[in-house]
Amino acid sequence: MAAMLANANLFISAWDSSLLVGFARAVSDYSYATYVIDLAVREQYQRKGVGRRLLAEVKALGGPDTSLILLATPGAETYYPHLGFTRHDSAWILRPGQNLY
Ligand SMILES: CC(C)(COP(=O)(O)OP(=O)(O)OC[C@H]1O[C@@H](n2cnc3c(N)ncnc32)[C@H](O)[C@@H]1OP(=O)(O)O)[C@@H](O)C(=O)NCCC(=O)NCCS
Repeated sequence: MAAMLANANLFISAWDSSLLVGFARAVSDYSYATYVIDLAVREQYQRKGVGRRLLAEVKALGGPDTSLILLATPGAETYYPHLGFTRHDSAWILRPGQNLY
């Protein structure tokens, strides 16, 4: 967990006073691609624009020429198209523990 936080180069959080209500974590080269690793909003604060704002901040920090790229978790597949993301037919994953052929 500590490494996940320390090694992402973009971390944006949303707060209601002292309560953490959402965060986005990403890695960006600030020129071509920003990979969004996590996006989460506390349940009671969902559907209030927090997720959109977090992604807008990530996009702005990544810079105007970067694409935002992510893998949606089950349940969130309908969210990203709603915000304007388009599906990519060529996403590829080599899972931990898998070796290259
Ligand atoms: C998915 C998630 C991040 C969305 O955050 P949120 O703050 O609730 O979303 P927003 O309020 O910014 O929603 C923006 C718009 O998307 C809509 N929306 C929200 N969740 C949606 C969903 N699952 N499917 C389709 N549309 C959705 C909202 O109604 C809103 O629409 P509007 O602007 O037309 O009124 C949040 O529900 C969450 O944390 N879920 C659990 C963790 C998760 O699945 N994270 C995604 C990992 S890939």
